[in-house]
Amino acid sequence: MKKHVPVMLNEVLEYVTKIKERFPMIVDVTLGYGGHSAKIYELLKQRTGGFLLSIDWDKEAVDDVFDRFKEEVAFYFTYTPQEGLKKVYESDGGENVAWAIVHGNFAYIQTILSEVIKELQHEKHCVDLVLADLGVSSPQLEDKKRGFSFASSSASLDMRMDPDTYNVKAYDLLNFLSRNELKRLFEENVGMPSKFAASLAWEIEVEREKKPFGDKDDVVRIQKIANKVLPLRKSSLGRLNLATLVFLALRMAVNMELDNLRELLENLPHILCEKGTALIIAFHSGEWRIIEEKLPHGMGIDEVVVPTRGEIRENPKARSAKMYVLSRT
Ligand SMILES: C[S@@+](CC[C@H](N)C(=O)[O-])C[C@H]1O[C@@H](n2cnc3c(N)ncnc32)[C@H](O)[C@@H]1O
Repeated sequence: MKKHVPVMLNEVLEYVTKIKERFPMIVDVTLGYGGHSAKIYELLKQRTGGFLLSIDWDKEAVDDVFDRFKEEVAFYFTYTPQEGLKKVYESDGGENVAWAIVHGNFAYIQTILSEVIKELQHEKHCVDLVLADLGVSSPQLEDKKRGFSFASSSASLDMRMDPDTYNVKAYDLLNFLSRNELKRLFEENVGMPSKFAASLAWEIEVEREKKPFGDKDDVVRIQKIANKVLPLRKSSLGRLNLATLVFLALRMAVNMELDNLRELLENLPHILCEKGTALIIAFHSGEWRIIEEKLPHGMGIDEVVVPTRGEIRENPKARSAKMYVLSRT
């Protein structure tokens, strides 16, 4: 499995060391394969202690972290709105430091947090640091059967990050959305100019009438359509980038990524301590726009930090990252 390199790890850890609380509460809402969480937990152990709650809606990722860090993880929960919080595992744990992992959607962060606090009878009720490292991880992208990217050349377009919760797959959207809905999907999620979004939607409609999507050639067919409709750039890399926009827009729609981000932001003033901080690492304009324009009342942007040139050289995937440092106003 391809390893995921955590983005802006040093910058995140700097914020952990800045926390003045003796036993801080930290919530990482995008555990992924544990790149940030494991280091945050190490830091808490070296300090006086604290509580780390890490959430991800990808069960494979949560299980992977659980297997690799079994010695460290004190609690494993699952959360769904239908079934509430369920404890899957509990260890004796340490005295001053605890790491709990949750399989669940961060859109429900406020409920997840209050249920965990209630279940563990935790004394502290507010969060000192929230971390969200948005998007997908390298192992998710690489997993061909999930059809997240054009690299998975022989997969049907599924793209669900949490197949337990979401029923609709990307190919369902391609088959059943009207031409107008498809056009809006491309415009709203990735800011595609309406001329191109309309042509894409039209070509998808023509193509699905020949044969519905939902087969192993989905990725190739969508790539062909993207190449036909989207303007040629000088380098082949330029055009490839435009095709990735189509995949990104579909993934965002299937997983309701912007809605979940809006929900997370709405919850921040209710869960953060008065001097608490939220670090949101975001990778594209759809996310940047929501953070910059749709912050709820009571939250403000302190600064926006970008990766160092050295990090981008080592990990080109970090190049579009922006870390928004948010606090209560
Ligand atoms: C970029 S990865 C995080 C990588 C992690 N920070 C690391 O360094 O290993 C983003 C993760 O967020 C998760 N994710 C995205 N949207 C989510 C949501 N609404 N609720 C919970 N997890 C989500 C994805 O499943 C993915 O594992």
